[in-house]
Amino acid sequence: MEEKEYQELIGPYRECLGNMENRLKILAEDYRKRYGEEPIHHMQSRIKTKDSIESKLEKKGREKTADEARYYLRDIAGVRVICYDLAGIRKLARALKKQGDLEIVKEKDYITSPKENGYKSYHLVVGVPIYRVDGMEYYPVEIQLRTMAMDLWASLEHRSCYKRKEEDRQAWSERFLQYSLLLEQMEQAVAEDREQTEKRRNPA
Ligand code: GTP
Ligand code: MG
Repeated sequence: MEEKEYQELIGPYRECLGNMENRLKILAEDYRKRYGEEPIHHMQSRIKTKDSIESKLEKKGREKTADEARYYLRDIAGVRVICYDLAGIRKLARALKKQGDLEIVKEKDYITSPKENGYKSYHLVVGVPIYRVDGMEYYPVEIQLRTMAMDLWASLEHRSCYKRKEEDRQAWSERFLQYSLLLEQMEQAVAEDREQTEKRRNPA
């Protein structure tokens, strides 16, 4: 893929990613007004690099062209939403799924059903509409909603297990499964404590 071709390819993905970030900011603002607290700790957005698009197409046995990328890849645009707690994730996800102009392309709930290695996150791929003078088109944006604890786990796991020899990977993945349980216990304890404190403050 020529650099020019890559730039043309990612243009609309950039627009749709910006649009999605905006929708999330608006939801977070409304959430804050309603519940008196911030649901999102921070967001990270990225557009896949040319190299990364090409290597993914290669892995899928596709040609390294913009057309194939447009057709076969759904994670060219991605936003990771790091929330304070599970309640925030659930409310934001529900609100997003209700936005009638978005097309739900794929939903994977690795929180209800974590991966075997302990990975947890809620993934949603949505088609975001873009309006041109000659009509409308959808572009996919991958949204990953996770708590800070889930994000900590995923970042360390990615760093530790990626590029490791297979036998080491095995040992580490067992450790990470334990870490995911520890982090879950911590999150639950914090959530329960907050609930108790809230009840004491607002009995009724
Ligand atoms: P990809 O080809 O990787 O995009 O996978 P997929 O199309 O099967 O999608 P899935 O929703 O399973 O995973 C997409 C993304 O989630 C990955 O690109 C990672 O960012 C993240 N992810 C999934 N599994 C793991 C994991 O085991 N560890 C970590 N650290 N991240 C993961
Ligand atoms: Mg991916």
